[in-house]
Amino acid sequence: MLDIPEALSYDDVLLTPRDSAVLPREVSVGTVLHERLRLHLPLLSAAMDRVTETEMAVALARQGGLGVIHKNCPIEAQARMVEDVKRSESGFLVDPVTLRPEDPVDRSFELMARYRVSGFPVVDDAGRLVGIVTNRDLRLGTRPGRPVSDYMTVEGLITAAPGTTLEQARDRMQEHRVEKLPIVDPDTGVLVGMFTFKDIEKVRKYPDAAKDAGGRLLCAAAVGVGDDALERAEALVGSGVDLLAVDSAHGHARGILEFAAALKHRFADVALMVGNVATADGVRACVDHGADVVKVGVGPGSICTTRVVTGVGMPQFTAVLECAQAAAELDVTAVADGGVRYSGDLVKALAGGAAAVMVGNLLAGTDESPGELVLVGGRRYKEYRGMGSIDAMRAGSADRYFQAEALAGSADEAGQPSKLVPEGVSGLLPYRGTVGEVTNQLVGGLRSGMGYLGASDLAALRERARFVRQTAAGARESHVHDLDVVHEAPNYQVPGNR
Ligand code: XMP
Repeated sequence: MLDIPEALSYDDVLLTPRDSAVLPREVSVGTVLHERLRLHLPLLSAAMDRVTETEMAVALARQGGLGVIHKNCPIEAQARMVEDVKRSESGFLVDPVTLRPEDPVDRSFELMARYRVSGFPVVDDAGRLVGIVTNRDLRLGTRPGRPVSDYMTVEGLITAAPGTTLEQARDRMQEHRVEKLPIVDPDTGVLVGMFTFKDIEKVRKYPDAAKDAGGRLLCAAAVGVGDDALERAEALVGSGVDLLAVDSAHGHARGILEFAAALKHRFADVALMVGNVATADGVRACVDHGADVVKVGVGPGSICTTRVVTGVGMPQFTAVLECAQAAAELDVTAVADGGVRYSGDLVKALAGGAAAVMVGNLLAGTDESPGELVLVGGRRYKEYRGMGSIDAMRAGSADRYFQAEALAGSADEAGQPSKLVPEGVSGLLPYRGTVGEVTNQLVGGLRSGMGYLGASDLAALRERARFVRQTAAGARESHVHDLDVVHEAPNYQVPGNR
């Protein structure tokens, strides 16, 4: 007889309550993914084209998490999204977009639209501040082709010296009724940075935002292993990406690991996440090839069909337990990717050792995910699709499933690729409001779970976790039962009825 081990999914287990003096509102849910990636919310958004672009990455980082920008787009488009996140808000801009006095004034309108900002410092060839042009200067009309110097404000510029704090900058801007405060070296007159009032307000509004050492929002981005992958990585690093995620359905594959090692060699200073794996051996291989963070999950995702199409995978709870343990032994962290349907699953993954959890489904129906709302039967939905679905692979993700050649070499008479073997589907998800609303519910559930276990932080949650297995009857009992009509709750949908 074959000795076949059993593997469990989130629904198979529960955490037992423990004596507790910890109140949910007092717990810390912060996590360290990597020494330069400190999150206040242990949540990543999936690198999927219906989940993470600029808006999602900004919204999630403001809540304390980390968005992973998908790669189903040209290199420049992805690099630009990363740049937009990094520029979106920081109390202090180290590298503000500037204009030259001789630039045509039309350029200021282009840049305003491109960066969604209301004005720019104007500098000379030596980088010295010579003026500032804002929409106040332009609103009375401009003549196309005229130089910026015709419109910029030169007299009475309000500036400050390096070392000015956020509070001092705010006071100075309020005192002088200006919205931008260029920081200028007093000896050379060179512009070294800028505060904007809008950003300072945001810093106050989102105190838990996940930021880099320079106060800019954290941003991650996916790379595949296609021909242009190194070039893509280079562009992303140039845009300031904080974490490169080697995105594959099978991270324990030779080609993926070799590429990861090449990335680590080339960009030693950028944190590297490699995946997906589902075994301790897979984790060790990733770490041997340079991974700082390992992503765990083969087939648990809501749109995944990998397990049924290929017969391969691992129920996610066991995968997380096994991989997180291996990761801890090697001093790296593990991210549990896919299959999270309720906040309780998040608690189980973190208690099982994951440093953070990646979600697609739970965020794909929000305002900040790419795509329009669609109305079906009077209800609002958003499209969600697996990166292994035919549509997504045609749009560029075939390499994630080792099918780039099938895509390139098999166009039928109508010019449509026909040999792709999908490992995912597409569908519709109910509209779920804003990212902030979803993360509030997830964090609320996590905090309560930690309260039940008497865990004041995530390390304590891991230590105090005692899991029991539940039977199918137990899982049925755990869900809503014996009601004919269930009114919707923001954090609960009846299984199979979402
Ligand atoms: P959830 O459950 O949050 O899962 O929707 C998101 C994760 O699913 C993975 N993913 C896929 N897996 N076929 C797969 O087997 C696919 O088409 C597919 N698309 C995404 C991915 O790891 C994501 O983070």
